[in-house]
Amino acid sequence: MEKRVKAVPQEEKEIKKQPKTLDDVRKKLDNAGFRTPESIAVCSPDELTKIAHISIGEAEQLLEKIRDELSIIPKTAEELYDEERKRGKITTNSVELDTMLNGGVWTKEITEFAGSYSAGKTQLCFQLSITTQLPLEDGGLDGEVFFLDTEGTFSPQRVAEMAVGQGLEPRKFLKGITVARAFDSNHQMDIVRKFITMMEKEEKKYKLLIIDSFATHFRSDYTGKNRLMARQQNIMQHASTLANIAQMFDMAVVVTNQVMASIDDLADGATQPALGLAWAHRPQTRLFLRKSRGSGRIARLFDSPRYPEKEVVFYVTEGGISDKPYSEDEW
Ligand SMILES: Nc1ncnc2c1ncn2[C@@H]1O[C@H](COP(=O)(O)OP(=O)(O)OP(=O)(O)O)[C@@H](O)[C@H]1O
Ligand SMILES: [Mg+2]
Repeated sequence: MEKRVKAVPQEEKEIKKQPKTLDDVRKKLDNAGFRTPESIAVCSPDELTKIAHISIGEAEQLLEKIRDELSIIPKTAEELYDEERKRGKITTNSVELDTMLNGGVWTKEITEFAGSYSAGKTQLCFQLSITTQLPLEDGGLDGEVFFLDTEGTFSPQRVAEMAVGQGLEPRKFLKGITVARAFDSNHQMDIVRKFITMMEKEEKKYKLLIIDSFATHFRSDYTGKNRLMARQQNIMQHASTLANIAQMFDMAVVVTNQVMASIDDLADGATQPALGLAWAHRPQTRLFLRKSRGSGRIARLFDSPRYPEKEVVFYVTEGGISDKPYSEDEW
């Protein structure tokens, strides 16, 4: 069968106009809220089977067709270079951190903050929930934030405190953050699928999706060696969906991760990010955070395809993430 590789007008991309053979499958997905090719293309075949109760074969066939329609075709390195230069970046409110990240947290990719208890992962997420909403000229993306809270640690009061500390009107910024609480790993994946349907309805212009923490449920839901394979498969599937969301919807995805004991000294003495290799290669940018003196925190960039390993110091202060410590006494 001849494949179509040319771009097609938007209206032709609509589900209802697909060939008969895949009509039923598309109708099922349509009923599940997946109305545009983009929202289907971000899913894995496994996810489509769960959403629409179709076979893996049908899901794969449909995905191949849709990805063709969307003209996901190879590009030259130069085209990619130009695209990369135009990518949106979100400031962390720390010049040191932004410089290490080459402008802040990038859109179209997954950024991971790993670290142990109190390392500053959640505080950085709160900070980004504010700065994403700033206009472009102030280091934001003029967009809203979807915050998936898996540990019940989202604190509107703390976000408001940070906003005030940065001379911003707290209510305006709290309004721009949608918070969803996930209770287990299936629920977490389900919320992400719902997020995709929200994105395509374009009710809100989300530019940042946060999962704080990505790891918690996967670590607690799958205990015992016999469940390890299922866990790793689900992590890979979920991670792949997140990577696709970042790409297709031109937004940043930030996830936090815990640490576990390590036999080598990869990042933090005797610890390394949790979830193993199923996850390790997914985030394009991985930051390892650890406590320093007082409000100081050390961020180490590692495992990056773009940059050498590097460390910088930032501070978690009452007014948010900063290059200066909490109190002058700490200098
Ligand atoms: N209002 C505040 N003013 C100043 N510092 C604060 C404030 N609230 C929290 N912090 C600092 O942030 C730390 C908590 O950091 P954070 O919540 O980011 O930890 P985490 O890395 O997410 O850890 P966990 O793995 O437990 O979730 C506190 O120990 C404190 O040092
Ligand atoms: Mg936390």
